[in-house]
Amino acid sequence: METVCIVGASGKLGQYLIQHALDKGWQVNAVCRSQSLPKLERFKGRISLFPGMTDDPEVISRAVKGCSAVLCILMPWGMQNYASGTANAVLNHSEPNTRLIFSCGWHISRDRKDKYPWHFKTMVKVFGYIAKTLRWVDVEDQVTACDLIFASHKAWTVVRASDLEEGASVGLPVWSKHVGDPLISRNLTRRTDFALFMVEAVNNKQLIQVAPAISGS
Ligand SMILES: NC(=O)c1ccc[n+]([C@@H]2O[C@H](COP(=O)([O-])OP(=O)(O)OC[C@H]3O[C@@H](n4cnc5c(N)ncnc54)[C@H](OP(=O)(O)O)[C@@H]3O)[C@@H](O)[C@H]2O)c1
Repeated sequence: METVCIVGASGKLGQYLIQHALDKGWQVNAVCRSQSLPKLERFKGRISLFPGMTDDPEVISRAVKGCSAVLCILMPWGMQNYASGTANAVLNHSEPNTRLIFSCGWHISRDRKDKYPWHFKTMVKVFGYIAKTLRWVDVEDQVTACDLIFASHKAWTVVRASDLEEGASVGLPVWSKHVGDPLISRNLTRRTDFALFMVEAVNNKQLIQVAPAISGS
């Protein structure tokens, strides 16, 4: 049976990832902050827990051991390079052929060929400025984290999500290599379907070393 590690498992996206992985019959190693363990109570007895910060190499090395895939939520919390620390821990401690699936948003660009609407660019700039001023979130660190991943020779996929909403699944999102493609212009994805896309990417060889931008259709 396949074992996968979910890094950042207690968040909204993480809990959807756990459910989709269990639905596939996979074993799940879940990494989450100690104070967030109660959020995973409903999965008790069905997953293995690895409490700790997601950028802690010791926690990550134990959690990813023997896993065929790592599904990792990248979030640039605080000013201590949390997202790039998390990416580094996963890249450095996963086995050579482990599939690595990372989450981020449309604002990440692999080759700078994405075409963003002006209001999206404004929103990212304003949010990034306010969040950094408050020392709450460092959007630039998520860019650094993804640049580390893009430079890696491992079997990674960086899933770049549109705006998100809650609600029941409406099916697998559509994707494009670039934001600006009319195919993904709806710019709205159900969070559960974002997780579904990440889980389905595990066995999709066409998505290796690709950074799909996704949206509900
Ligand atoms: N929200 C959006 O509109 C949006 C749009 C596009 C893409 N995305 C991407 O989707 C992914 C997840 O987004 P989400 O909105 O669904 O969030 P989420 O799943 O709730 O994930 C938040 C994660 O951050 C952790 N976290 C929260 N506060 C923290 C802190 N102070 N220090 C360390 N970790 C902390 C949470 O852990 P705890 O459970 O321990 O709190 C959880 O693992 C991210 O990669 C994001 O870039 C989001």
